[in-house]
Amino acid sequence: MDLPPVGLGTMAVDDSAVVETALDVGYRHLDTARIYDNEAVVGAGLAASDVSRESVTVATKLWVDDLAATDVRAATEESAARLGVDTVDLLYVHRPRGPYEPTETLPALDTLVDDGLVDHVGASNFTVDQLRTARDHLDAPLAAHQVERHPLFVRDDLLADAREHGYPLVAYSPLAGGQVRDLPELQAVADRHDTTPEAVAIAWLTGTTGVVTVPKASSRAHLEANLAAATLELDDDDRASVESVETERELFPE
Ligand SMILES: NC(=O)c1ccc[n+]([C@@H]2O[C@H](COP(=O)([O-])OP(=O)(O)OC[C@H]3O[C@@H](n4cnc5c(N)ncnc54)[C@H](OP(=O)(O)O)[C@@H]3O)[C@@H](O)[C@H]2O)c1
Repeated sequence: MDLPPVGLGTMAVDDSAVVETALDVGYRHLDTARIYDNEAVVGAGLAASDVSRESVTVATKLWVDDLAATDVRAATEESAARLGVDTVDLLYVHRPRGPYEPTETLPALDTLVDDGLVDHVGASNFTVDQLRTARDHLDAPLAAHQVERHPLFVRDDLLADAREHGYPLVAYSPLAGGQVRDLPELQAVADRHDTTPEAVAIAWLTGTTGVVTVPKASSRAHLEANLAAATLELDDDDRASVESVETERELFPE
């Protein structure tokens, strides 16, 4: 699946004008989820925009209590209705938990692809073993894996799987929920490039082969800065500085 380097994360976005502005400044990938309770907000922003529906990748996620094989169709139809789309471009399993059963849930998702309700199926918060099992039971290619990835938390086994199997790793919480601004190591790199720690974090992610990202932002200034950050080129010393802050602490543990 071909995703742009920077898309819009919408968790906690409750104003459709943010989505409309994002599309206006050039975003073409919108990331939401049923559990964010804002699919209608994202849909309203998309509907109000001059940008054509076809040029935008709309991604949402089935929450854990939607994952019984008998529930996925109704849950997806409801998400699509709230989003105001006929087809969900990318539908993720948000977390492989609860009634998630790969031998049943994944074939049920395949029927949604067959029927045109879903274009691509993705995974989120899977382990390498869970990805392998998913590939065994899903006819459709696994189109993307969305995982927590930012300077404070990196899982390279997941990146290796993405590269080996040729799907994008979608880095969520790329700014560590805003914490990157307080990291002196990132500030030092930012000072060298006359930019911000947020731009450094995004450039470090998008400069990694196989990784795209979905920062959340509200203002036009942040939206524009995050999109532009993908053009910032970091050298090996910059990247080493960013990589020195890793803590192995997740913001979103299981
Ligand atoms: N699959 C999953 O389980 C999962 C879990 C968590 C998140 N996600 C996805 O990942 C997306 C992003 O993660 P996140 O929402 O946790 O946080 P994030 O993108 O790491 O950080 C967002 C925070 O950074 C601020 N910010 C954004 N751009 C900035 C800039 N250029 N300069 C200074 N501050 C800036 C935002 O403030 P303003 O809003 O004021 O601009 C907000 O407070 C989510 O929205 C969601 O789509 C997925």
